[in-house]
Amino acid sequence: MSDKPTILVGRKLPPAVEARLARDYNAILNTDDTLYTSEQLIELSAQVDAILPCHSEHLSADVIGKLSDRVKAIANFSVGYDHVDIEAAKARGIIVTNTPDVLSDATAETAILLMLGAARRGSEGDRMVRAQAWRDWSPSFMVGTQVTGKRFGVIGMGRVGRVTAARARGFDMDIHYYNRSRLSGDLEAGATFHDNVDSLLASADVLSIHCPATAETKGLLNAERIALLPDGAVVINTSRGGVVDDDALINALKSGKIFAVGLDVFNGEPSNIHPGYRELDNVFLLPHIGSATKETRVGMGYRALDNLDAIFAGKEPGDRVA
Ligand code: DGY
Repeated sequence: MSDKPTILVGRKLPPAVEARLARDYNAILNTDDTLYTSEQLIELSAQVDAILPCHSEHLSADVIGKLSDRVKAIANFSVGYDHVDIEAAKARGIIVTNTPDVLSDATAETAILLMLGAARRGSEGDRMVRAQAWRDWSPSFMVGTQVTGKRFGVIGMGRVGRVTAARARGFDMDIHYYNRSRLSGDLEAGATFHDNVDSLLASADVLSIHCPATAETKGLLNAERIALLPDGAVVINTSRGGVVDDDALINALKSGKIFAVGLDVFNGEPSNIHPGYRELDNVFLLPHIGSATKETRVGMGYRALDNLDAIFAGKEPGDRVA
């Protein structure tokens, strides 16, 4: 074994990323892509200088508390880091990084896919054709709601929110946003700023959620806030499921208050999502694939490695979150 740092890699990564890992580190690769249990992560931590996890690995305060002292860094292969207890990492002096920017385009593409799939009843139509249940055509058949020229409301106008807004402008949509602080004129690009979520909701024919999952945003889209949306709004979420109150959203889908939703992220994902979604036609559902393009997966891997390279060179990593 060389004196290169040893990295525990949480999941199978693209060949180019694993090749760079093998070149520059002693990499413990996850060749069969099996999800490590907390116990395995803790046990393996005795052999490694850093962990490179995805959002599928949960590094709770309890797990972080039991990691070996040898672990210097957690370099996430993700922009979101709600799967890592940041305070626990800080308390142990473990550096935590994420991978912003490189996935903004891919995630914005998914947000637009969700918007169109929900507004134009994509899942329902697909299921009908596959089930050989398509019997007729008439002007009243499978009528959706048009998004062109409508108001596109963004909660969280960070990198992904801004790229998604730019794509929505391609549909002549009028962009409104809520963000903790107002953006500069350049970044705002003519969008209307709302200094509170409630005001934004009243202006969102399509609502797109892009804020991170934190204690403050948990259940943010609840029954009271849904009531503020225009009747027949479309809601899309590529952020984290925790931002949504599922019961409230499902009730609004059933009542018709919300025309349709497009969701890529869920409470309880992957295997314990609210069963109510599966029973509804007016939902367009994807399995958390917002950033799942070949290009972006390589970009995320390289970004995580750039952070590790900086850390082990004794420099400040570009994407430090703790
Ligand atoms: C992210 O990067 O946060 C995506 O949700 C994939 O993990």
